[in-house]
Amino acid sequence: MSVAKDNNPKRVTVHTLENMALKNEKISMITAYDYSMAKLVDAAGIDVILVGDSAANVMAGYETTLPITLDEMIYHAASVVRGVSRALVVVDMPFGSYQGNSKMALQSAIRIMKETSANAIKLEGGQEVIESISRILSAGIPVMGHLGLTPQSINKFGTYAVRATTNDEAERVLADAKALEEAGCFALVLEKIPAELAKRIADELTIPVIGIGAGGHTDGQVLVLHDMLGITQDFSPRYLRRYLSLGDEILSAVRQYSADVKSGDFPNEREQY
Ligand code: KIV
Repeated sequence: MSVAKDNNPKRVTVHTLENMALKNEKISMITAYDYSMAKLVDAAGIDVILVGDSAANVMAGYETTLPITLDEMIYHAASVVRGVSRALVVVDMPFGSYQGNSKMALQSAIRIMKETSANAIKLEGGQEVIESISRILSAGIPVMGHLGLTPQSINKFGTYAVRATTNDEAERVLADAKALEEAGCFALVLEKIPAELAKRIADELTIPVIGIGAGGHTDGQVLVLHDMLGITQDFSPRYLRRYLSLGDEILSAVRQYSADVKSGDFPNEREQY
């Protein structure tokens, strides 16, 4: 099936998301890293496409998200943008492109916006990245925050377990969420925290809160495309709903193709000139 490109769709903007949250209309968000997948995901009516630094895992095969570079994120993001007509495209700022240096953060964000034509950036962290966020916002670049499990800090935490399970940590995440809203973030991702805490944060914030492994009370949900399609087969956190077993489908299709080549069945009379 081919997917026709709608040349005059109603684009999703940060204000669309704000209005959706106000009207209690749930926001759907999913990752994409390349043109073909982005085109399909956009045609399916997803509201937000995240060019996640999870590309480091699912596209490049790294164990963590740390190695992916700004150049690589820009390559993925520019490919995604070329496939999208409607969704808001948000690009993750990779590890090392914004932490501890707000001027570098602004330069990185400007490169992403100039070289990809994406609509917004996302970065991980709370109070410690507020200066970077403010500087990026001062250039008119919308910023999405990310709290809870922040994979770029894996070496600090040592595990991908559920975050904010103690009162102290929960209060810290709530304070960070408020600081991000105050700083001007247009939305916030909460990853792998207790549903009750995510609900409290979503209730106390006015900006849209998008959850992943954060329960059903947030304004929207995000999943990694390769996980929900069943392309990644060895990653099964409790929050993940698999909508397809595409990994199995691909295996069986490629096995069949290989067998057909070896048996001489492919190509047949109709498949040649
Ligand atoms: O990189 C990513 O895919 C993400 C989502 C898990 C939110 O940050």
